Order: sequence, then structure tokens, then C-alpha cells
Amino acid sequence: MISIDTTGISSFIDEDEIRAVKTNALRQLALLREGKGQGNDFLGWMTLPDSIEEHISAIKTCAERLRNQAEVTVVIGIGGSYLGAKAVMEALADPFRSEGAHKVVFAGHTLSEDYHSSLLAFLGKRKFNIVVISKSGTTTEPAIAFRILRDQLIKNSGKSDYARFVVAVTDARKGALRDLAGKEGYETFVIPDDVGGRYSVLTPVGLLPIAIAGFDAEAFIKGMKDMTHATRESNDNFSNIAIIYAAARNLLYGKGYSTEILVSFEPSLVYVAEWWKQLFGESEGKKGKGIYPSSVIFTTDLHSMGQYIQDGERKLFETMISVVNPRHRVEVPIANDDSDGIGFIAGRRLTEVNHKAEAGTRLAHIDGGVPVITIKLPQADEYNLGQLMYFFEISCAVSGYILGINPFDQPGVESYKKNMFALLGKPGYESERERLEKKLENHG
Ligand code: PA5
Repeated sequence: MISIDTTGISSFIDEDEIRAVKTNALRQLALLREGKGQGNDFLGWMTLPDSIEEHISAIKTCAERLRNQAEVTVVIGIGGSYLGAKAVMEALADPFRSEGAHKVVFAGHTLSEDYHSSLLAFLGKRKFNIVVISKSGTTTEPAIAFRILRDQLIKNSGKSDYARFVVAVTDARKGALRDLAGKEGYETFVIPDDVGGRYSVLTPVGLLPIAIAGFDAEAFIKGMKDMTHATRESNDNFSNIAIIYAAARNLLYGKGYSTEILVSFEPSLVYVAEWWKQLFGESEGKKGKGIYPSSVIFTTDLHSMGQYIQDGERKLFETMISVVNPRHRVEVPIANDDSDGIGFIAGRRLTEVNHKAEAGTRLAHIDGGVPVITIKLPQADEYNLGQLMYFFEISCAVSGYILGINPFDQPGVESYKKNMFALLGKPGYESERERLEKKLENHG
């Protein structure tokens, strides 16, 4: 099981304070579990680990069909309809994957013309599938990507045959994508009404792309399930790791540590950090409140952000994901001469070196005034990633309740959309367009 170590914050807080916040966190967990807190119509994610199994065989059958009928699948989606699958796949994939394996690529998360042009060039005349994911079915970025890629698919496969290469993951009833899927005859999967985007990795939103990429979706579900049970504990010896994490970070926030940096010494976890940033940023950043979530990959970023973290403004705390066991073995070679000066580590595994770098960094940052929470991940595999993601989801919901906000809505995301639609001349936004264009002129 994953575990948490908060000894790295003990010199920044006192025991009575943490006990009080943990007691409050337990109250918030009870509220969450009873469905009596804010946003309680979006709690479907809490029981997914127990309920999703009945859908897994349909997901696996579809994944197998897609893998067999084409060499590439383009997964289209943005935000919560993108980051969960991307996080798991990046964490598990071999970065130098050999040709021949079924390739999964992403679209719909950017409006970049150059990105789309490169993607179209890559797809060329290849056989490809599209998995288009949008809960609302109306989000602009994935809608544009789907229109572009569908055109290409029809060119490659013909209008009469292309539908079997498309799978839509969307709302059960409403939205433009649902309508289109019905009209064109795409296979579909449903995103439940009571599961918000950033909590949807355990629905077909995450599971279908993970299965298409050839990873073990069932082990991922098992990890989530085991963490569901582990985070049910509500005793007052505070052994529930989600309570410990939620309490620790909120206590630090109350003391002015307003930026949390998610740290990993494994580059493969870079998108786990992106997923985590969305989860916490979109859940907590409301009403002028919320810890700002950021991330680094060490030791890489010790050579860029390390100076600031060690020595800059003291409002940072770190949450280090420490991966205990690597999946592979590489040693520092023993050399005849020591002209590169690293003979003292010859013959040692890289993980030992990486772990010493981690221990040294942790101590240096604590000494420099940066509290450090450590989360130990036994291995970056499907099972442990499932545990980790559910742990973060439950901690995030409890943290949001401690903060006094609704962790399940995202009203602020609409502002840029309104402006973009007005500036693009979408019907219905005429007066807003005039107002914004005047503003732009003045700023120019
Ligand atoms: O967490 C969220 O709700 C958002 O990030 C959405 O997932 C994102 O905006 C995409 O929405 P949709 O799935 O409706 O296209």
C-alpha cells in the first residue's frame, strides 16, 4: 500500500495544531461520505471502484477491436477528459517504445494549428481510430479536433465505413456528441451524470484509452478499490492517509505556505503531476482561496527551479512522491580509470543514487524552510497508480471541504470561453464582442 510520512513538516507545526485539523478533516470526511456536503450531486466517483467492474468487459472488448483494426488510436479530449488517461499512460509507457505496438496519441487538448498539422501528417494514410471524449459533448477544443480528424478518417476509410473506427465517450442522453453518435452509429460509452471530469479517470474516460494502450485496467481498478477501503477509516488515531494529507496541507496553508509543489524523481510521473494540478487547482481555487498547485521533476529541475525552492520566497511546501522500487535495473558501470570522478558510485544501482539525491534534497529543503510531505509509492505500476489517484481524489474532496468551498464545480472555467466565443463572433455574443474589442483596442 502507498504510505505517507509527515516528519518533514514537524519542525514547522506543532502537534496540537495538527491534531485539531485532523479532527476537522475527519468531520469533513464524514460529511462527504454521508453526501451532506457541498456539491453532493457529484459524488459518483466515490463508489466507482466498486461499480465499474461490470463495465470492464465491454471496455476491454472495444479496446481489443480498436487495437486489431488499426495501428493508431487518437484520443480526443481536454481537462478531465484527457489528463487521467494521459497520466497513467505516460507513467507506464516505455519512452522509447519500439515500433509495432499499437500507438495512442492525443488531440483535442490544444488549439495549436501546428500540432494538428503534424498530427495529420503523422496519420497520413495510416489506419487509425478516434476515441472522442467529452462529457458535455460541446467543448470547443475537442469538437474542432474531431471535425478535423473525422474528415481525415472519412478520406482514408470512406464515408460508408468510417463509423466503426469511432468511439464516443459522453453523456448518456444530452449534448452534440451524443446526438452525432446516434446519427452516425458510433459505439458509445457513458460518463455518469454524478462524476465530474477531473474525477472521471475510473470511468471509460480513463479506462478505455488505458486498455487500448495495452495496460492492465483491472489492476488499476483493484488499486483504486483497495484505496477506497483504506480511506474509509475514521478512527481518532488518524491512520487514514487521506486525512493526514488533507490536514497537513491545510494546516500549512493556514500558516502562509500557499504554494504546493508536487515533486517526483521519476520523469514518467510528469503527467501524474499535471493530472494532480488539475484535480487540486480546479477543485480548490475558488472564492479567492486555495493552495496553488505546481510541480517539478527532480533531479532535472534541481538544475532550474532548485535555487528558488532552496532560497526564494518562503511560501512553498513540497509533496514528494517517492517511488520505492524501479521496474528495471541499471548500474553505474565500473571503469578502469576514474577520470570522470564518479568511481565512488561505480557498481551501484541508479535507484540508489536517485534515492540518495531524494533524501539529500528533502533534508536541504527542510533546512531551507520548505516543509516536505512524502508519499511512498511502492512502484509506478497500474495497481499503485490506482491507489495513488484515488488517495488524491479523496484527499482533495476533504481538503476542499476544510477550505469551505465546493470541490466539485468549476465556475471560473467559463470566463475565457465566453470571451473567446464573443471574439470569434459566435451568434448571441454580439454586444459582448463589441465591449471586448474596445477593451483590446485600448490595451493596444
Ligand atoms: O474537470 C472538468 O470538469 C473539466 O476539466 C472538463 O473535464 C473539461 O472542461 C472537458 O469537458 P468535457 O468533458 O465536457 O468536454
